[in-house]
Amino acid sequence: MSKIIVKNLAKIFGEHPEKALKLLKEDFSKDKILKKTGQTVGLFDINFSVNEGEIFVLMGLSGSGKSTMLRCINRLIEPTSGTITIDGEDITSAEPGIIRELRRKKVGMVFQRFALFPHRTVLDNVAYGLEVQGISKAQRREKAMQIVETVGLKGWENSMPDQLSGGMQQRVGLARALANNPDILLMDEAFSALDPLIRKSMQDELLSLQSALNKTIIFVTHDLDEAMKIGDRIALMNDGTIVQIGTAEEILTNPANDYVEKFVEDVDRTKVLTAEGVMKAPDPVVFLKDGPRVALRLMKEHGISSIFVITRERRLAGIVIAEDALQAAKEQKEELKALVIEDVPKVSLDTPLIDIIPTIAETQFPVAVVRDDHTLAGILVKGAVLGGMVRGGGNVD
Ligand SMILES: Nc1ncnc2c1ncn2[C@@H]1O[C@H](COP(=O)(O)OP(=O)(O)OP(=O)(O)O)[C@@H](O)[C@H]1O
Ligand SMILES: [Mg+2]
Repeated sequence: MSKIIVKNLAKIFGEHPEKALKLLKEDFSKDKILKKTGQTVGLFDINFSVNEGEIFVLMGLSGSGKSTMLRCINRLIEPTSGTITIDGEDITSAEPGIIRELRRKKVGMVFQRFALFPHRTVLDNVAYGLEVQGISKAQRREKAMQIVETVGLKGWENSMPDQLSGGMQQRVGLARALANNPDILLMDEAFSALDPLIRKSMQDELLSLQSALNKTIIFVTHDLDEAMKIGDRIALMNDGTIVQIGTAEEILTNPANDYVEKFVEDVDRTKVLTAEGVMKAPDPVVFLKDGPRVALRLMKEHGISSIFVITRERRLAGIVIAEDALQAAKEQKEELKALVIEDVPKVSLDTPLIDIIPTIAETQFPVAVVRDDHTLAGILVKGAVLGGMVRGGGNVD
């Protein structure tokens, strides 16, 4: 179920949004509109939905509209037009009372600057949101303590923020957002101020937290590697619009236009692409019940020197090489089974390229890609895998 649905959203900063909207419909660029009307296009023609339990990343260069989009969701910014629905309720037309409730209970926010209260202890910082809700002191301390433990800060609850490292302070920020147990977390460049190692460990921690908490998260970042690592899906923004929405793999293998292609050209594809993205269809294959002659004919037709053998249920049985098939055919043998080499290299659909490369390098055969039930999903041949590393995948034959 979609938790958040954004439809035709626009945000114009300035006194005369209607002037900008008119020019937008005539395809004027953001720059031209600013020059002509003095209005800044923050967002235009934004459409997306976020599923329950999903980490949805908004990514793009500075000024592309990420924060503006995020802030429209809890109405820290008023959209100019369009709708945002959360759990079926249109929050763009909701009363102030509902918006207050939304911010208190349903939506938590984590910023880049931790914005902690310097004179409160870690525990009191975390308990702040509960205090505002009028929950009793004992109760809120207990609840806050639980969250402090969840984010790995047990033992630090009585420390002051300035006694903590940046990474720990950001955990306090995260804990504070989690204290009200919101369904939705909005995270704006939450890890961007951290140094690289701590940043990486915070990303790992968020992912492991998420597997336990199952929140719906919108995560803003301008870092492509971060986006690809933590996003279930990514929306790439430019000049206030969304250029492409997809999984990391979809965006890498199938960029919507030149802008996206340029954007992703420096990504380390071996970490993002998986076997599924670069495999080719399992064709030709030979069934176990077929004889050596069929295997030989298929290999000849396709100009290959080995062929994968599958069972009637399409499970991988192994591979047969041309030499053995030829010999068996000469000897009038009918059984393929005796020729099958069972111990063949195989990987699963989600194995990243980086882990496939050593296998591919070592083996003389193509590598089989098998599903959990052991059926043959695809075949990896050296050329296509190397091609996938350079650009795209899937379609490389
Ligand atoms: N309060 C405001 N008044 C006028 N223009 C604004 C305002 N807030 C944002 N903008 C403009 O809206 C556009 C989008 O800004 P936004 O802050 O959403 O970008 P961003 O993608 O979050 O960038 P960054 O990575 O630098 O945080 C920019 O052109 C910005 O100048
Ligand atoms: Mg921003």
